[in-house]
Amino acid sequence: TINHYEVPQLFESRTPPYAKLLNNLATVKKIVNNQPLTLAEKILYSHLVDPEEGFASSQGNVANIRGLQYLKLNPDRVAMQDASAQMALLQFMTCGMASTAVPASIHCDHLIVGKDGAEEDLIKSIATNKEVFDFLQSCGDKYGIQFWGPGSGIIHQIVLENFSVPGLMMLGTDSHTPNAGGLGAIAIGVGGADAVDALTGTPWELKAPKVLGVKLTGHLSGWTSPKDVITKLAGILTVRGGTGYIVEYFGEGVKTLSCTGMATICNMGAEIGATTSTFPYQDAHRRYLIQTGREPIAQVVDQIHKDTNFLAADEGAEYDKVVEINLSELEPHVNGPFTPDLSTPISKFGEKAQQEGWPQTISAGLIGSCTNSSYQDMSRAVSIIKQAEAVGLKPKIPFFVTPGSEQIRATIERDGLIDTFEKNGAIVLANACGPCIGQWDRTDVSKTSSETNSIFTSFNRNFRARNDGNRNTMNFLTSPDMVTAMIYSGDANYNPITDSIKLDNGEDFRFVAPQGDELPNAGFIKGREEFYPELNPQPKPEVEVNVSPESDRLQLLDPFLPWSGEELSTNVLLKVEGKCTTDHISAAGAWLKYKGHLENISNNTLIGAVNKETGEVNKAYDLNGDQYGIPELMIKWKEEGRPWIVVAEHNYGEGSAREHAALSPKFLGGSILLVKSFARIHETNLKKQGMLPLTFADEADYDKISSGDVITTIDLKDMIAKDGNNGGELRVQVTKKDGSSFEIITKHTMSKDQVEFFKAGSAINYIGNLKKQ
Ligand code: F3S
Repeated sequence: TINHYEVPQLFESRTPPYAKLLNNLATVKKIVNNQPLTLAEKILYSHLVDPEEGFASSQGNVANIRGLQYLKLNPDRVAMQDASAQMALLQFMTCGMASTAVPASIHCDHLIVGKDGAEEDLIKSIATNKEVFDFLQSCGDKYGIQFWGPGSGIIHQIVLENFSVPGLMMLGTDSHTPNAGGLGAIAIGVGGADAVDALTGTPWELKAPKVLGVKLTGHLSGWTSPKDVITKLAGILTVRGGTGYIVEYFGEGVKTLSCTGMATICNMGAEIGATTSTFPYQDAHRRYLIQTGREPIAQVVDQIHKDTNFLAADEGAEYDKVVEINLSELEPHVNGPFTPDLSTPISKFGEKAQQEGWPQTISAGLIGSCTNSSYQDMSRAVSIIKQAEAVGLKPKIPFFVTPGSEQIRATIERDGLIDTFEKNGAIVLANACGPCIGQWDRTDVSKTSSETNSIFTSFNRNFRARNDGNRNTMNFLTSPDMVTAMIYSGDANYNPITDSIKLDNGEDFRFVAPQGDELPNAGFIKGREEFYPELNPQPKPEVEVNVSPESDRLQLLDPFLPWSGEELSTNVLLKVEGKCTTDHISAAGAWLKYKGHLENISNNTLIGAVNKETGEVNKAYDLNGDQYGIPELMIKWKEEGRPWIVVAEHNYGEGSAREHAALSPKFLGGSILLVKSFARIHETNLKKQGMLPLTFADEADYDKISSGDVITTIDLKDMIAKDGNNGGELRVQVTKKDGSSFEIITKHTMSKDQVEFFKAGSAINYIGNLKKQ
C-alpha cells in the first residue's frame, strides 16, 4: 500500500489524493497483468470509484475497456465560469446539500464586456451584472466554494496558476477546461449537470475514451509557437477527428515546450472534439509549479515521478491512432474563417485569401484570452512591438490585449510590458473573456454590417458572430506573434517571416523572430489582493441565497416531468442543415445575460440554425404552413402539448459545453434529437436533461425526413427494460403528412445511469431522488 506523498495542509485542497490514486492504479494494473498503459488511462483509471468493479468486464485486457465501457469516476475538483455556474449552482441547490463534496471554484470572466479598457469596462460590467455576481458569491459563501470575482481572471488561466497539477482529474463547466492538461492533468469540459455529479459526490460517468497519441519531434524555434502545433493538428484531424479520444502528446519535441505552451495546445484540443488532452510530466511543469507558489506540490510530484512513472505513459503503451508533427518543420498557421480546422500556413495565406475572396485588409488584431495570455505569449508580442517602435512604425489597425489573470496583468505591468502595449496604441482590456465570447462592444464595425471584415486573433474559436456579434466578421485564429506582426501591416498578403514593410523614410523593414521569456525572471507577483479569494473557504450555512421571482436574470428551477412510461410520438419541428454548433443552438453574446433564467434564455434556442428545407436562418413552419421563429414555434407546440423532435447533420452540438443547448430544448418541449452524429459533450448534456439523443444507422435516412413528419419510437420501452445496454439500435416509425409510413433504424448510446436520467426526467431529478432516499 502506498501511503506517503503528503503535502503541507495549506496545499491539501490543491493536491490530488496521490496515495489513493496510486493504490487504485496498482489494482487496475494487477487486473490487466501489468499491461502497459498510456498516461491518459493511468490518470483516468486511478480515479475509478471502484477499480475492481470498473475493470470487472476487462477479462484482463485493457482493450476491452477503451472506447467500450462506461467508467464511474471520482473527479478531484470542479471549476465553473460565471455564465455556466449559474445553472450548475441552481441545479446543485435542488439537491439540498450543505457543502460541496470536492473543492470547487467559481470564476467571473464571461460577463465582462470589452470596449474601452480594463478600468472602465470592469466598473460597467460589475454594475450590469451585480445581481448575478451577488448570487454566485452567496452560493460560494454558503457552500464553501472559492469565488474569484470579476477582474480576477479567466477560469482556465486561474486554474493553471492555482489548481492544475500532474495526475489531477477535474471537471469544468466550460469546453476549454482541457487547458489544464498543459500541466499534466485530465481536465474535462462538462455541462452543469455533470458538475453537479462531482459537487454532490455522485460518481461521474464517462465512456472510456480511446487515446490518440501525438508524437512531437524536432524543436520549436523562430516564429513558430505552441499555437501552431494545435492549429496544424486541427487542420489534420478536422473538428471531428478527436471525438471519443483523449489526445496525449509524447516525443522529444515536448521538451522544447513551456508549460503554458502545452496549455495552449491542450486548450484548443476542444476544437478537434477531443474529450481532453494531456502532457507527460516535464521539467517545465516543475518550473511552473514553483514559480506559481506551489513548490511543496512540485516536490511531491517529482518524487512520484521518480518512484512510479505514474505521470508518463508506460514503455510500450499503445495508442489507438498516432499523428506525428515535426516541430522543426512546422510553420505558423492561420485557421479560419468560421471553422477552426480550416488551416493555412502563413506562407500560403495571402494567396488563399485572394482565391477565397476573403478581405484583403485585416480590420483588427486581438491577443490574449484563455488560450494565449501567458507571460511567454505577452513577452514575445512585446518583442515584436519593440522592434516596430525602434524604427517608428505604428500599428495600422486597432489592437486589443486581454491578460488572462491578475497575476499575469500585474507581472507584465511590473515588467513594463503593459506600458509598451499602451504606448503603441493597444487597448488593454480587463482580465476576462471579453471579445473571445462575444462580449466585444465593437465601435468600428456594426453588428448588422453586411460587409465581410477580417480579424486576426490568438483565440481558440471562430464560429460566426462569436466575437463581435456580426455574422460577417471572419475570425482568423493564429499565434499572438502573427497577430502582433499583422497589426503593422493590416494586409492579408503580408507574411512577417519573409516580407518587409515600407517605412516613412522609404526604407524596408523586416521583423526578426520574436523572443520571449518562458517565465518572468523576477517571478510572478500577485497584484491586487482584492482579486484573491480565501484559500480554503468553509461553508457558511447561515448565508441566504436569494433569487427574486421578479428577476429577469435568475430563476429557480422547476423539475422536468418524468417519462410517461410510453413510446414517444413526436413531430419534426425543424430539419437543420449543415454545421450546428452550440453557438447556433444557444447563442452567446447578449444572451449570456440570461444564463441563470431558463425561460428567458430559451428564447434563443436554435436561432442560428439553418432550415434545410428553405435555407432560412431561424425559421420553422407550423403544420398549417405558418412561419415562425424557431423558439416561437417550440413555445407554441409546448403550449399545445405537442412534443417535438429536431433532425440534423454531423457533429451536432460541436463547440462548447454549454448545457443550455440541451436544457432549453427540453424546457421548450423537445424530446428527441435525431442526427447524423453528435459532439460528445452535447450528447451527454442532452442525456443529462432527460432527452433522447439518437443517430441515424443509415445517414441517407436524413433525406427521407421532412418537417411536420411524425416520428414514433418502437423500441424505447425495450431499450429501457434492458437498462440501455450501453448502446444499441432503436427502431422508429416515420409517418409522412400524406399518411404513408416507414421504419428506420437509429442508434443510441444510453448507459444504465443515463436510462435512469431519462426515466426521472433529468439527471438532477435522479440525483435529488437518491439523496432523499
Ligand atoms: Fe473565456 Fe472561453 Fe474565451 S474561457 S477567454 S471565452 S475560450
